Amino acid sequence: MYSLLTARSTSSLQKKLDLWRSTGCRVALVPTMGNLHEGHLRLIDIARLSADQVVCSIFVNPVQFAEDEDFSCYPRTPDDDMAVLVEQGVVDLLYLPDVDTIYPYGTDSAVSIQLPALSKDLCGAMRPGHFNGVASVVLRLLNLLAPDVLVLGDKDYQQKILLERMIRDLHLPIEIVGVEIHRESDGLAMSSRNAYLSAEERSIAPTLYASLLALADALRKGETNYSQLELIAIKKIAAIGLEPEYVTVRRVCDLAPAGLFKPDDKRIVLGAAKLGHARIIDNVRV
Ligand code: PAJ
Repeated sequence: MYSLLTARSTSSLQKKLDLWRSTGCRVALVPTMGNLHEGHLRLIDIARLSADQVVCSIFVNPVQFAEDEDFSCYPRTPDDDMAVLVEQGVVDLLYLPDVDTIYPYGTDSAVSIQLPALSKDLCGAMRPGHFNGVASVVLRLLNLLAPDVLVLGDKDYQQKILLERMIRDLHLPIEIVGVEIHRESDGLAMSSRNAYLSAEERSIAPTLYASLLALADALRKGETNYSQLELIAIKKIAAIGLEPEYVTVRRVCDLAPAGLFKPDDKRIVLGAAKLGHARIIDNVRV
């Protein structure tokens, strides 16, 4: 019968990992901040296809939240998360470290990872220091677990590209597997932060995705006036009551802006908007 194995300390984590390694198993890590939804479960299913053993981590990382952000009220639902994982029956180990384990010198004196300029663009322009905080925790998790595979969602596409860059630039022997966005039936990308939306906000939230889809469609038809198309999407999003932060067409592989596109480059449309207490992000490949 399936029973969910958990590790909170580094020693119990490494005992399990050592055992797997001694039998030549390939290990996949799915890092999360918990409040698990079907999008997270997709990542775990894909991890299962890529490795012999699947570790899911749940850690609400303080250093990726700015002072005025939602760290203290971020939804923490450990009992529900465990129940969901038991029902899914795919995770081999649930890693639940505490802040002192991840940051042994404290978060204020922690060694921090500085990512390149892309970390200050798009979501990074709205959330200063956010991606350095993400990289700082993910590198620690990679060092603690030494997984063969890291599974990341395309929903946080800029996060995926930046972590890929960190892993390649630091010569870490880790394969990254990206998983496409899992959506509600009306198109809204699943997210733990959707819980912040009121019923009315929830009803208009899918407009972000719809506007990105329309923009991607126009690009597929051959339109190339990027700034005009971006403006149309921004106006559509604002007209229904969201506060758009950005809508932009970028190169898929590195999120370079349109000015740097080469003829065969694949493109992606990304957008972000505030809605009540939530901030929603989404993207569509062209
Ligand atoms: P979290 O928001 O919990 O997301 C964990 C992983 O699930 C990320 O790779 C994210 O892209 C993916 N994910 C979330 N919603 C998804 C959806 N609807 N479809 C597909 N994938 C989805 O992202 C973080 O946590 C943190 O920044 C973390 C990487 C854990 C570092 O703290």
